[in-house]
Amino acid sequence: MSDSQAINQAVANLYNTYPFPPDPLSDLEPPGYNWRWCWTSAYSFCTGIKPTTQDIRILDAGCGTGSGTDYLIHLNPQAEVTAIDLSAKALEVAKERCQRSGVIAKHAKPVKFFNLKLEEATQLAGEFDFINCVGVLHHLPEPERGIQALAEKLKPGGILHIFVYAELGRWEISLMQKAIALLQQDKRGDYRDGVKVGREIFANLPENNRILQQEKKLWSLENHRDESFADMYVHPQEIDYNIETLFNLIEASGLDFVGFSNPQYWQLDRLIGKSPELMSRAENLSDRQLYRLIELLDPNLTHYEFFLAKPPLPREDWTNDGVLSQAIPELNPCMQGFPAQNFLNFEYQMVRLSDGEYEFMLACEKNEVKACVEDIFSSCQLDLAGVRSLWERQLIVLSPQI
Ligand SMILES: C[S@@+](CC[C@H](N)C(=O)[O-])C[C@H]1O[C@@H](n2cnc3c(N)ncnc32)[C@H](O)[C@@H]1O
Repeated sequence: MSDSQAINQAVANLYNTYPFPPDPLSDLEPPGYNWRWCWTSAYSFCTGIKPTTQDIRILDAGCGTGSGTDYLIHLNPQAEVTAIDLSAKALEVAKERCQRSGVIAKHAKPVKFFNLKLEEATQLAGEFDFINCVGVLHHLPEPERGIQALAEKLKPGGILHIFVYAELGRWEISLMQKAIALLQQDKRGDYRDGVKVGREIFANLPENNRILQQEKKLWSLENHRDESFADMYVHPQEIDYNIETLFNLIEASGLDFVGFSNPQYWQLDRLIGKSPELMSRAENLSDRQLYRLIELLDPNLTHYEFFLAKPPLPREDWTNDGVLSQAIPELNPCMQGFPAQNFLNFEYQMVRLSDGEYEFMLACEKNEVKACVEDIFSSCQLDLAGVRSLWERQLIVLSPQI
């Protein structure tokens, strides 16, 4: 067995013992939304434009026990969804979850599950418009091989959503992983023993210990389940990234970096914006240097979440007044509580609309005739800057006039 095969085998053993995530199965469809798993919202975020079709193929690469897959099926009713995972046990739970929640029975298109490695994704038939790969690549023996296989399966114009660990915010976790491994000695690979050793360490560390404090502050709520504890502290394979190594991985994929899906974190002015001198010194930095500066100054970051794309990916920033006034606006599907002037946006944050914005969004909601921005202006008090602001805040999606 090669080193890579041995690592994959150890990872499969972990998740066959402790399938992840340990979210309870439910007889109800998944509640609410996660915009990163909704094709319309994710594609609009990446391009500025509402996708032209909902008839797409989605791959959930490393689906685990299927909490994300359940949403991908539910939020994309016209998509054909395929889910793969290395762990047979996790996959079994994923199938049961999506059957029990009722999303498969309601779904028009086939939903398929395969016990397949990411590295073998090239064996799947056809290409995918939207690939989701959350919490997986950092557990591969050779993440570059995994991301390249996914890149090969991505359709031109398709998008890939990735989540991988960041080293700065996981410093204490990595210390604890090494400590458990030392105390386990030749019992490494016995994941139940690893959890036992880890819990015993936490039960005995002094109250003011930094590793214990981080566990209590950030993780203990989820880590009361052994599956989460094992995933965090007893993992046989974990690669934590920094901006340099992350962009090396992205370059290896051959895909284009579209952007981080949590852009608020990547704003330098929230850290040193009060100093015009420092901000002006930062002006000459490349994007990558700027990202590095931000993570160095705010090292709580525990993961990177971002979109890659296979060109050609269209982009529209709607800065041209003529183009914007002819665009067809619709509501972003990921929001809760609308119609009302106060409601929850795509990130579940409370939004308050002005009267003009509210009238415009009401017209978008009832926009069955596909009226353009200019047509809607005749019935409400909003200007193009107001429409741009609604779009920038991801409250509406826009389609160009064909
Ligand atoms: C932390 S879980 C994430 C599950 C799911 N994506 C989520 O976010 O809820 C990691 C999953 O990746 C799977 N995995 C690890 N290495 C893999 C590989 N080489 N190919 C396919 N799946 C893999 C594991 O079996 C496990 O189910």
